[in-house]
Amino acid sequence: MSIVQLTYGSCATEKFELDDLYKIVAKANKTNQLKNVSGLLVFHENCFYQILEGEEEKVNAIFDKIKNDPRHHDVKMGCKNYTDKRLFEDHYGMSLYYPSSEDLPEDQMDTFEEALYKLSYFSKSSTVCEVKFFEKIRDKII
Ligand SMILES: Cc1cc2nc3c(=O)[nH]c(=O)nc-3n(C[C@H](O)[C@H](O)[C@H](O)COP(=O)(O)O)c2cc1C
Repeated sequence: MSIVQLTYGSCATEKFELDDLYKIVAKANKTNQLKNVSGLLVFHENCFYQILEGEEEKVNAIFDKIKNDPRHHDVKMGCKNYTDKRLFEDHYGMSLYYPSSEDLPEDQMDTFEEALYKLSYFSKSSTVCEVKFFEKIRDKII
């Protein structure tokens, strides 16, 4: 069991624009790659759901920074487990799943939510955190 997976949820302090999101992901990609940390950040209705995976010390250090970031609040850790298989083994950094605009017309938002639902449903979850992470996402969009 060589790595940990950690999940949390939070909501943006102010209305987030795409540029703000891209800034976070650019920084996350840089830092996480250096630390061999991978994961997924989902953005939906101004809230975040993230799964981080990597060496425990590195994941904890990144999460400590994230917790204290004033751009979001109510950071609630969901789950932490040990595993030897990453969900995102092909991409160190931070993958992002988000609607192209939070002001999408309703029908396009429905399409985004449907795609998010499918992603959560069909991802091959094999650990407790992966299952809970995708369950949480499904709860939020149903
Ligand atoms: C929702 C959210 C997710 C974030 N995810 C990451 C991440 O995966 N990796 C990372 O290094 N920083 C992430 N950040 C940014 C950190 O909170 C923090 O700003 C950054 O690590 C600061 O790094 P520095 O102290 O080296 O400048 C995230 C911030 C937010 C609001």
